[in-house]
Amino acid sequence: MKLCMIGTGYVGLVSGVCFSDLGNDVICVDKDKRKINGLKKGIIPIYEPGLKELVLKNYNNKRLKFSTDLEDSIKKSDVIFLCVGTPTKKNGNGADLSQIFSAAKEISKSINKFKIIITKSTVPVTTGDEIEKILSKKVKKNKFSVVSNPEFLREGEAIRDFVYPDRVVIGSNDKKSKMILKNLYAPLISKGAKFISTNRRAAELIKYAANAFLATKITFINEIANLCEKTNIDVEDISIGIGLDKRIGSRFLRAGPAYGGSCFPKDTKAIITTADKFRTDLSVIKSVIKSNSLRSKLLLKKISEILNQKIKNKKICFLGVTFKANTDDMRDSSSLEMIPFLSKNGAKIKYYDPTGIKKEFDKIKNVSFSKSISYAVKGSDLVILHTEWNDFKSINFKKLSTSKNLKIYDMRNIFSPDKIKAQGFKYFGIGR
Ligand SMILES: NC(=O)c1ccc[n+]([C@@H]2O[C@H](COP(=O)([O-])OP(=O)(O)OC[C@H]3O[C@@H](n4cnc5c(N)ncnc54)[C@H](O)[C@@H]3O)[C@@H](O)[C@H]2O)c1
Repeated sequence: MKLCMIGTGYVGLVSGVCFSDLGNDVICVDKDKRKINGLKKGIIPIYEPGLKELVLKNYNNKRLKFSTDLEDSIKKSDVIFLCVGTPTKKNGNGADLSQIFSAAKEISKSINKFKIIITKSTVPVTTGDEIEKILSKKVKKNKFSVVSNPEFLREGEAIRDFVYPDRVVIGSNDKKSKMILKNLYAPLISKGAKFISTNRRAAELIKYAANAFLATKITFINEIANLCEKTNIDVEDISIGIGLDKRIGSRFLRAGPAYGGSCFPKDTKAIITTADKFRTDLSVIKSVIKSNSLRSKLLLKKISEILNQKIKNKKICFLGVTFKANTDDMRDSSSLEMIPFLSKNGAKIKYYDPTGIKKEFDKIKNVSFSKSISYAVKGSDLVILHTEWNDFKSINFKKLSTSKNLKIYDMRNIFSPDKIKAQGFKYFGIGR
């Protein structure tokens, strides 16, 4: 099939590359010229394991193209995926759909034959109806179909998640488009992915409900961890003890910092706004948002306690600053709240992240990037393990630090408390 991905970010690039690898002709379009020029030279704009090899393979065999020419790319394609950003509105909690609507206007000018227009971006219920209205202003209704096909890939595991999804959700009010998309996904369905067909609004809501539920699970175990700290219980035992119950499931039950990333914070807020529009009170999700927003403050209070209420002039090292491992994505990472707070209170901060220096900390006083784990740890009073990269799991602090008073705050519970204590250092974890 001839496909066009509008927006070549985490979702558009990964799904475009994977579709081309399945034998389709794909044009990945972006308005960011630097990104597209870089991709044409083999420069991958994001950190995603395995992505570079797949881009080079499919670009060289000419199934994958990159372009900034939206009009031409739409004309050449039969199926158009909207993969643009849907961040939180600047003045509010709802999703900012300006990128979606401006792309829909562009599409409406270039429809030269029947096209299926698909929202792969996460969009609130009724967005498909709005896109249909925009297109109808310029194009006859029998020339297009608007479908919802939410994406569930996880950054860091994106290629595997795309090729082996648990399910493919197609929300369409039109049977012909449904069949065409079932065909497009046939190679994944034949490998075991469940095909779920719903109306368009249901598919839009499935994505928000899934993200809100996962955010709830994380927040739930984070609150249980708070209780464990007061009762001398290891939350890891609780995660195993409840996770083995098939009705609960063990995933997303790892206690840690506040959830962050490009999806959960914005999607939980957006579903509340949608529910308000339909006069429905989603009180559980509201309390999840509240609990999560207090989490970084709680962990900062703990940092202060660990340092005996003396943050000023303390040398603090952050290992990992992204919201999770195997991605370079900094959007809504809890480090963005913690590091500026500690800097403001006089701490001297070094950080190391396997994906390199972060522009987000450029203007923050007394914050510097270290080229290696050992540079970052050397001379520190406190090491904060913020992100669970494999690179950190076997650190021997004894080899890296000469200070006897080094304290380690393991916000992902990846170290063995006994081993750290045996090395002579003070260990603090989450809920243990
Ligand atoms: N990142 C994830 O893990 C993930 C997972 C599932 C779903 N989603 C959803 O997918 C959507 C995209 O997320 P992302 O993380 O890939 O965003 P992103 O910011 O990485 O990429 C969006 C891209 O769209 C481009 N763009 C915007 N308007 C355009 C236009 N008119 N024409 C061409 N290009 C345009 C931007 O330049 C940018 O490169 C969001 O709705 C998000 O919620 C994201």
